[in-house]
Amino acid sequence: MIKELFGLEGRSALVVGASKGLGKAMALALAGAGADVAVASRSQKLIEEVRDEILASGRKAVAVKADISREKDIIGMAGQVIDSFGKIDILVNNAGIYLPATALDMTAEDWDKTLNINLKGIFLTCKAVGRHMVDQKNGKIINIASVLGKRAAQTSSAYSASKAAIIQFTRSLALELAPHNIRVNAIAPGWFETEMVKNELGDPNTRKYFLSKTPLKKFGVPEELGGAIIFLASKASDFMTGETITIDGGFSIW
Ligand SMILES: NC(=O)c1ccc[n+]([C@@H]2O[C@H](COP(=O)([O-])OP(=O)(O)OC[C@H]3O[C@@H](n4cnc5c(N)ncnc54)[C@H](OP(=O)(O)O)[C@@H]3O)[C@@H](O)[C@H]2O)c1
Repeated sequence: MIKELFGLEGRSALVVGASKGLGKAMALALAGAGADVAVASRSQKLIEEVRDEILASGRKAVAVKADISREKDIIGMAGQVIDSFGKIDILVNNAGIYLPATALDMTAEDWDKTLNINLKGIFLTCKAVGRHMVDQKNGKIINIASVLGKRAAQTSSAYSASKAAIIQFTRSLALELAPHNIRVNAIAPGWFETEMVKNELGDPNTRKYFLSKTPLKKFGVPEELGGAIIFLASKASDFMTGETITIDGGFSIW
């Protein structure tokens, strides 16, 4: 029963932004539940290491070098995964960047860069893979948003805007793709100890402040997204679409 609900044997997944941090942990979790997994990012060596870890666990895996700020790379990435696995059942849009700056100090270039990768890149990836899922009449798309898409922070205006847009894009796409048997959901992580936030969480005062705002009194570790990603990728979540699951130790309860 549990295996039938949560098992991913026979499914193939593409995790974009899987070279490190949350994306790597989610790729390994999907493989652990039985999926074959394609891992993509700009860093060839790192994604090959993740691919090898998945292969060693007995699942099929491929590494695809792609920069999602370029549509050509996105189309190539989708094609390469379909050539390798024959299909994409699960798409995890995890690639993202955070360029901290107040709105008044942020350059237009950094604003565009943030929105290009965090929002447009996900839209274009959903488009490339979504067409394939429509043809196969099945699919699960999981977008990685952020608790900062629902709450504000001092230096996150571009990042927060991009992540709030992802939450709303997830709802709109869920509506559009529901007739095609495709579910679209999102995860909004709170503070997780990864390279992206090492400067913020490396500062003792900021660390203390965010811990004081987190009822569970800890930061997340990437493996703590494993349960949610398996749930959203599996049959267990088949009656759910357009939803965002927040995983933040209670940070957004306030
Ligand atoms: N850590 C947190 O506290 C936290 C909280 C909320 C939400 N998030 C979100 O969770 C996701 C993962 O964050 P993380 O903390 O794991 O960050 P991270 O360690 O910096 O990882 C970011 C991932 O995105 C990939 N990436 C960035 N730009 C890309 C591009 N143009 N094309 C392809 N891949 C690209 C990176 O790969 P390459 O550099 O190899 O290309 C890397 O695999 C992000 O969307 C982030 O906004 C994180």
